[in-house]
Amino acid sequence: MRSHFISLVASLLGNTVLATRLYAASYAGSVTSLALTKTRGAYELSTLSKTAACGSSPSWLMLDSENSILYCLDEGITALNGSVTTFKTNQNGTLSMIQHLKTLTGPVMSAMYSAPQVSKGQFLAVAHYSASSVTTYAVDPAQGLFNHSQTFVYEMTGPGPVPSRQDAPHPHGVIVDPTGRFVLVPDLGADLVRIFEVSPLTGYLDQVEPLAVTLGSGPRHGVFWTPKGAKNTSTDVYFYLVQELSNSLSGFRVIYSEDGISFAKVYEGSTYGNRAPPTGSKAAEIAISPENNHVIVSNRLDSTFGRNSDSFAVFACADASGKFFEDVSFLGLHRAHGSSPRQFSINGDLDMVAVALESSQRVAVTRWNKRTGSPGILLVEKQMDGDIPAVVWDL
Ligand SMILES: *[C@@H]1O[C@H](CO)[C@@H](O)[C@H](O)[C@H]1NC(C)=O
Ligand SMILES: *[C@@H]1O[C@H](CO)[C@@H](O)[C@H](O)[C@H]1NC(C)=O
Ligand SMILES: *[C@@H]1O[C@H](CO)[C@@H](O)[C@H](O)[C@H]1NC(C)=O
Ligand SMILES: *[C@@H]1O[C@H](CO)[C@@H](O)[C@H](O)[C@H]1NC(C)=O
Repeated sequence: MRSHFISLVASLLGNTVLATRLYAASYAGSVTSLALTKTRGAYELSTLSKTAACGSSPSWLMLDSENSILYCLDEGITALNGSVTTFKTNQNGTLSMIQHLKTLTGPVMSAMYSAPQVSKGQFLAVAHYSASSVTTYAVDPAQGLFNHSQTFVYEMTGPGPVPSRQDAPHPHGVIVDPTGRFVLVPDLGADLVRIFEVSPLTGYLDQVEPLAVTLGSGPRHGVFWTPKGAKNTSTDVYFYLVQELSNSLSGFRVIYSEDGISFAKVYEGSTYGNRAPPTGSKAAEIAISPENNHVIVSNRLDSTFGRNSDSFAVFACADASGKFFEDVSFLGLHRAHGSSPRQFSINGDLDMVAVALESSQRVAVTRWNKRTGSPGILLVEKQMDGDIPAVVWDL
């Protein structure tokens, strides 16, 4: 399928040697399909199409490339409700809306999971920041159709240590563990990672004991690490959590038992190393490097590299082969090439990183520097309409 698109662009543009696609969400109310091309050595990002069908404030995108379905969350910032929308990603770069479903306000991240006894169906979990809730959906992944399934709403008896942000529970992320048995939801307001067990029979989520983290740290997103080439995902599993309010990274060894999952902390350190976090900075996204040995975190609003020029923090978490865990260590900061790098996607096939520079209202594509295991030089950037919270690759 993909080769059709590449050859089409190549024949139209003559010397184009690379053509791939990205989707960007904008708080101006659009989702844009972008073509990344390389013609005579120069990279270019150009708009293929734009849709307003996700809603007024698209906050998160998730691509199921196998089924050519794009999932879009609308945060509903100025509306009563948010929404979940699915799109078919067409060869010509357009997005055809499949389903649009109203939900509680404030959806900001989603993840897909399966249940062993439910053969064809899958499930979607969504974290709702402003509605203090988590919702789930039964999904037909081939068609991109879904129904609402569960709603969990949380409350707190009083504000947390950072009352301006911890006035209420604020689920911010959704992460599925490598065994597929558990769904984790970092809650920025409650300083908890909420944990759900997936029912193997039905796909329903059952709440289990949450992981309590440092008070006032504001857990936002997380990622699991497993050794490269691991056959058994129940051994040597680590969980890395980025905490927005304390600008820190925590690492936990994951312990599985007959009846559950538990966590032993192995690391907690600043996303600025030994330096104090700049006033107003707030860590955002987290990812494991394609080489499987580094943890990358985006630092927003820190102006580390000059005014409106923020950073990525890079930590080592494994040996160079990516097969063995090593003590976590802060390696340094690298340019984000703009202001407020919110979400980013590392593409290990192209050795590139796509960054959503929210406050710069830009999408940037940088080199992934294999030698240093970090985001590298800027290849191309595109000014967009509105603040850009998310960008994903379509290959
Ligand atoms: C793009 O492809 C879709 C699906 O095949 C089609 O419905 C649409 O009309 C096409 N749009 C353009 C502008 O070619
Ligand atoms: C829309 O928001 C209202 C107010 O929070 C809520 O009661 C209602 O359930 C939401 N609708 C859906 C479909 O979630
Ligand atoms: C959604 O609900 C309808 C009506 O009950 C049902 O026919 C359909 O199979 C459901 N879809 C999914 C993905 O569960
Ligand atoms: C994986 O390792 C765990 C712990 O050693 C063991 O209990 C489990 O049976 C193993 N699973 C597989 C599929 O080998």
